[in-house]
Amino acid sequence: MPSTRTIEVLASAADLFHAAAEEFVRVARTAIGAQGRFTVALSGGSTPKALYSLLATNYAGFAWNRIFLFFGDERHVPPTDPESNYRMVNESLLTKIAIPAENVFRVPAESPDAAAAASEYEAQLRRFFEIKPGEFPRFDLILLGLGPDGHTASLFPDSPALNEESRLVVANWVAKFNAHRITFTFPVLNRAAEVMFLASGADKADMVRQVLEGKNTPPLPSQRVQPSDGKLLWMLDEAAAAKLTR
Ligand code: 6PG
Repeated sequence: MPSTRTIEVLASAADLFHAAAEEFVRVARTAIGAQGRFTVALSGGSTPKALYSLLATNYAGFAWNRIFLFFGDERHVPPTDPESNYRMVNESLLTKIAIPAENVFRVPAESPDAAAAASEYEAQLRRFFEIKPGEFPRFDLILLGLGPDGHTASLFPDSPALNEESRLVVANWVAKFNAHRITFTFPVLNRAAEVMFLASGADKADMVRQVLEGKNTPPLPSQRVQPSDGKLLWMLDEAAAAKLTR
């Protein structure tokens, strides 16, 4: 299935998150119907929190026992830290749904050694997807956000992880944070059956235009997300899409 790019623009942030929740559940139903399970990698940051809360309220009765949740990236902090993506997802979704604990694959980011945490998480992915060295997992859905500098997951411009071609998960040194982030690599992102970017608000409009219409050398990290055999879906609200030429 050749890679397709779809841009959906919703009138408001509320409409955006409703449409994103419906898409999440649509892909989940299709995957569960076809293979008995749905594998999804969640994004962090602030934007998806409203989506996770909506899934918890509107889809509490969904077949969460058939859903396997991973994290596309994590800050190098314990799960109790306010910066933790796991903590955000736990508070907005996991504590409100009946998902078996063994279906949630948290990045062990409390490890003082970020590289060790990344290796451990990669090992978890390889075990779960039963893949051999050189093989890559195929997620049914990967959620991504868009950073002000064009980063996505924790693949930041000019950072070492941009060139990773064989690892699934790496500890990426991010100079501006003077810290590591633990992140999926492009080979994992680009093997997904579907990648959904979520961007909301006027402060994203410039970067949305740059990523979707700009010719950047080198390309921005978000521009390098091109599923080789899957769907690329950009879900935007009007404010985030305001500078697109349509
Ligand atoms: C993270 C994310 C990151 C995020 C963007 C957008 O851990 O921060 O995975 O890639 O999606 O930075 O963040 P906001 O949604 O907060 O604007």
